[in-house]
Amino acid sequence: GAPVEVDISTLKPGEKITVEWRGKPVWIVRRTPEQLAALPKIDPELADPKSERHPEQFTPPYARNEWRSIKPEIFVAIGICTHLGCSPSDKFTPGPQPSLPSDWPGGWLCPCHGSTFDMAGRVFKNKPAPDNLEIPPHMYLSDTRLLIG
Ligand code: FES
Repeated sequence: GAPVEVDISTLKPGEKITVEWRGKPVWIVRRTPEQLAALPKIDPELADPKSERHPEQFTPPYARNEWRSIKPEIFVAIGICTHLGCSPSDKFTPGPQPSLPSDWPGGWLCPCHGSTFDMAGRVFKNKPAPDNLEIPPHMYLSDTRLLIG
């Protein structure tokens, strides 16, 4: 599959766009300062907070950091659950919601078997998904243009 170029200039804080790359949905999210500030606090609740399981498969070297991204605010991930391949739903709003803990910090919920992921695509403990969401290869062509693939 060819790389996909994406203009992120109109992506606002708290918003997500989805593009297709190699037949897979790729999410691009501009995280808010609050969402970024929450990430390190969630570490103890996660199965693999530092993305040390299968890093070569799920987290490229430039995304092996606290945000799992090149730029802290822009998160790029493949929108496919690492359990059996369902598409997790956006649950960006913190706080109590159906099927989520009362202290939910924002992230994704997989509708198939209930795996939950934080705003860096990191899977919570004791969930069926074995790995964090996959970060696809990507780079910035300019401040507002991303190349996926
Ligand atoms: Fe997502 Fe099973 S496919 S939890």
